[in-house]
Amino acid sequence: MKIAVASDHGGFQLKEAVKAGLAARGHEVLDLGTDSEASVDYAPFAVACAEAVVAGRDGILRGIVCCGTGIGVSIAANKVKGARCAVVTRDEYARLAAAHNHANLIALGGRFTAPEDALRYIEIWLETPWEGGRHDRRVAELDAML
Ligand code: RB5
Repeated sequence: MKIAVASDHGGFQLKEAVKAGLAARGHEVLDLGTDSEASVDYAPFAVACAEAVVAGRDGILRGIVCCGTGIGVSIAANKVKGARCAVVTRDEYARLAAAHNHANLIALGGRFTAPEDALRYIEIWLETPWEGGRHDRRVAELDAML
């Protein structure tokens, strides 16, 4: 699958680890920055990632955004119409973000998430099917916003 990643400085190390892990699992990764631990604002990076996902740019289907907590990038990504970005901090959140929220992006906190946990969350999220059904209407309501 083609996946876009982006981070600020607080999520940079985790983004790099995620990128390597995704590539090792055969995914194609588009890195939208940042490219170092120098301090940057997280919103433009998260928005660029969400816009790439929503537009399906170059076949991108999902996005992963990282900052210190995952919170700032998730708020920013969700400002993009059509983005459904969930902060994931445990396996069950990864599963439910896919099954119930049809999340097309997830947000991870680089200061609180070990790379091996992040890669497990990502795997769960990517492999869990969208349940649809009663969640279809709810997600349609989200997509109609903005
Ligand atoms: C940057 O210091 C930090 O505020 C940012 O990475 C993020 O955690 C914001 O939500």
